[in-house]
Amino acid sequence: MTTIIAASPEETIAAGRALAGRLSPGSAVALTGRLGAGKTCFVRGLVEGWGGADAVTSPTFTLVHEYPTPRGPIFHFDLYRAGSAEEVWSAAQDELGAADGMLVVEWADRFPELLPAGAVRVGIDDEGEGRRVITIGS
Ligand SMILES: Nc1ncnc2c1ncn2[C@@H]1O[C@H](COP(=O)(O)OP(=O)(O)O)[C@@H](O)[C@H]1O
Ligand SMILES: [Mg+2]
Repeated sequence: MTTIIAASPEETIAAGRALAGRLSPGSAVALTGRLGAGKTCFVRGLVEGWGGADAVTSPTFTLVHEYPTPRGPIFHFDLYRAGSAEEVWSAAQDELGAADGMLVVEWADRFPELLPAGAVRVGIDDEGEGRRVITIGS
């Protein structure tokens, strides 16, 4: 388990970038942390880390965003408003099962059964004044 203190959004992005460098296609990242903790910010780093150029925003009104990168597509879910695991699964089973890219899920703890067993867990705690504690690992 690794703990990183991020004193700014840029440092949270850098932490995402560093993790992406250690992930291969077929991997999954389960993000937890309250609203505004910095989950989407961290995903920005994951996408940058694989060389993606697209702007990363929360998939709030669509279930999943797909970002193409040179290392494979990144599928970005946000389960905050999802009604049930079944609903998510039936709407996006191709993306959830994609073996050629990275699966990233915000609010992963809402429906943990949707994440593959080997998902890397990333928790972000907001300690105020721009300071975040990022815990990577199980
Ligand atoms: N160290 C930090 N890391 C990440 N975000 C931070 C940090 N300090 C302040 N922020 C702010 O917190 C907010 C995080 O938003 P976002 O990444 O969308 O959170 P979430 O996806 O967890 O709801 C942004 O407005 C960002 O500027
Ligand atoms: Mg978000």
